[in-house]
Amino acid sequence: MNNKDLFVHKSKSWDFKSRRVNSAKAIARTISENIRLDRSMHIMDFGAGTGLLSYFLSDKVAKITAIDTSTSMLKVFKEKSSLFKCPTEILNLDLTKDFKSNLLFDSIISSMTIHHIKDIEDMLKKMYNMLPNGGFIALADLDSEDGSFHSDNEGVFHFGFNRDKLKDIAQKVGFKMIKFETANIIKKPHKDFSVFLMSGVK
Ligand SMILES: C[S@@+](CC[C@H](N)C(=O)[O-])C[C@H]1O[C@@H](n2cnc3c(N)ncnc32)[C@H](O)[C@@H]1O
Repeated sequence: MNNKDLFVHKSKSWDFKSRRVNSAKAIARTISENIRLDRSMHIMDFGAGTGLLSYFLSDKVAKITAIDTSTSMLKVFKEKSSLFKCPTEILNLDLTKDFKSNLLFDSIISSMTIHHIKDIEDMLKKMYNMLPNGGFIALADLDSEDGSFHSDNEGVFHFGFNRDKLKDIAQKVGFKMIKFETANIIKKPHKDFSVFLMSGVK
């Protein structure tokens, strides 16, 4: 793991923005409404960051593995882990480069991370291989935007996603019952940005 940590200057104050906390809460609610989670499940939060999404689902599952490339974001996750309502495990790992075939999860969730992933088909294939038949993905990110969501687009490979195109990729990989919900609208001073949740089953 020797990627540049693009979140090093944001990690300590990440959770201070109520907009981020409220967005994670809304995504968690949409996940609970669309995915069958239960207290026997071990789930993975892809790009977990400081754990905003994980926290809001920690009373619904047996264990959460947080995977992220950012050491600084995971440090904040670790400091908060006693607040979680289930055990957590932290893996500082770039799955797009270091795929571990021994990682298996009942479901994979994610919030606002996949726009940082260049090759979405490859990422979805890896997720597919980490799930049992019947396992879910629930991935939230921005709908297509004009590039003005982030003030600095370093590390941003997609200005949001077109739902139909993303669905086609997920279907090609093998996911079934792919659905989209609007999980949240992020209101920034200059514009509103909608956030989708794509769910699918292996
Ligand atoms: C916008 S933040 C979202 C964090 C958290 N999910 C949330 O909703 O607050 C994106 C996160 O994705 C992580 N990330 C970027 N590329 C990644 C990769 N290839 N594998 C895992 N995590 C990645 C970043 O380090 C960062 O923590």
